[in-house]
Amino acid sequence: MKKDVRKAIIAGNWKMNKTPSEAKALLEEIAPLVKDAGCEVVACVPYVDLATAIEATKGTNIKIGAENCHWAESGAFTGEISTGMLKEIGVEYVVLGHSERRQYFGETDETVNKRTKAALAAGLKPIVCVGELLWERECNITEEVVARQIKLDLWDVTEEELKNVTIAYEPVWAIGTGKTATAEQAEEVCAFIRECLKKLYNEAAAEAVTIQYGGSMNDKNADELLQKVNVDGGLIGGASLVAEKFAAIVAAATRN
Ligand code: PGA
Repeated sequence: MKKDVRKAIIAGNWKMNKTPSEAKALLEEIAPLVKDAGCEVVACVPYVDLATAIEATKGTNIKIGAENCHWAESGAFTGEISTGMLKEIGVEYVVLGHSERRQYFGETDETVNKRTKAALAAGLKPIVCVGELLWERECNITEEVVARQIKLDLWDVTEEELKNVTIAYEPVWAIGTGKTATAEQAEEVCAFIRECLKKLYNEAAAEAVTIQYGGSMNDKNADELLQKVNVDGGLIGGASLVAEKFAAIVAAATRN
């Protein structure tokens, strides 16, 4: 119903997979399969693959994203990458607050917020990930968890900046586990996230935000998930590493 006011985005999250030469080969395989996509197509790749990926997708409809960025412009942050570095080589998107960063690398809502603000200030488009752990769902606090993440991660993000933000709802128990949320569960939480955005901003601003589902989305279940009115796309891990599977999800987003 409201899908016409927002952009569907299918983004691959390659995680720590593919060397530069492998990235080039995969993108060259994907490009012809998604050239007629009716949605935005993004590949978020490891830092060292970015330059190769940007070169390999020149003249195609595939946009390139990073998997994280730091909030400082420069300085003593060994191992980190700044937004300016990403911008200069032509990166458009950046995944922030992925549950693997939260779980293994000490990412908090405060640091996700700092990264989000910095990415927006630099003109990057953040894909901000939120989602509950299994035990949080079992304790029936999914909405509390997600509302808190949305509020904190988007703290001080203006309505104008929100236009460049994508939210990815990724229930942590569904990531890389083969356990997908049912289309109803995905819709329920994506709709709830939109309600949170309405409260924080306003109805029009909230309706315009792309909210993706992520967590074992694949070529088999994509149609059912993407048919839901508040599921505007997907953040795809495993299936984004197989050209035909990723292209099939893009086709599903184009149909729905
Ligand atoms: P998955 O990963 O599709 O492999 O479950 C999704 C993600 O982590 O973004």
